Amino acid sequence: MKVNRREFLKLLGTVGIVGAVGGALPPVVKYITPPIPKEQPYPRSKLVWEDGSPVRASELEVNVMYKFYYPAKDDTPNMLLNLGDENGNPIEIPPARLPKMMDPIEEPPIIFKIEDNKVTIGEIPGRGGFYEFPGGVGPNRSIIAYSGICQHFKCAIPALAFYKPGKAPPLAASNIAGKGGVVFCSCHGSIYDPYRGAIVLRAPAPRPLPVVILEWDPTTDELTAIGMAGPTIMGMFCNTCVEPDKLVGDKTVVTRVPGF
Ligand code: FES
Repeated sequence: MKVNRREFLKLLGTVGIVGAVGGALPPVVKYITPPIPKEQPYPRSKLVWEDGSPVRASELEVNVMYKFYYPAKDDTPNMLLNLGDENGNPIEIPPARLPKMMDPIEEPPIIFKIEDNKVTIGEIPGRGGFYEFPGGVGPNRSIIAYSGICQHFKCAIPALAFYKPGKAPPLAASNIAGKGGVVFCSCHGSIYDPYRGAIVLRAPAPRPLPVVILEWDPTTDELTAIGMAGPTIMGMFCNTCVEPDKLVGDKTVVTRVPGF
């Protein structure tokens, strides 16, 4: 086939463009989909106050929200709660088997009762597999920690806040949420129930809040975060897929958050 000069130059230009685009493609793809860091083991992080002294379970005020970072420093805030009733008596939070995805539970067909200062958990309908919710720790098994990042659109503490029993969050009409004792997200109104594994009481959140697994040492009364359970934080690939230097390390500082 005979190719004239004009056609030859056109062909050369096309080959050049294809080559340039082809060469640039791998870095562009890499930029769009950055590699996910390897999953790190959960750190064992002792809960300490700002002055470095250990947080003791008996120091945590009932129905007050505290905050600490775990497993990543700066990025993943959590709430720490010593849950109690309206009169400030601690309430035991038993372990349960909970679904990772669920529809909001506006009314109580699934019966949760507080009897003898203990929550009774029934069967909760859900999707996406189940996990073992560890329940509360401490002398009254009333201390619990959840991710402080809303599972809807990532609003975090203080937008996500604990409303103690008797203090209803805005527009909470249902039998459960209207009584308070809930975690409310002021961004779009999701409500979670911290007494029952932070299950979803009101949409749009599609998943319960992940729970931080705490270890309580009865001899020292100290608390240590040792892992997480439930859905991942904001549906992420994994909670510890970060560079190792981004994890909190062997201590994490607890601060008090003004509450409702
Ligand atoms: S971010 Fe919490 S309800 Fe939307």
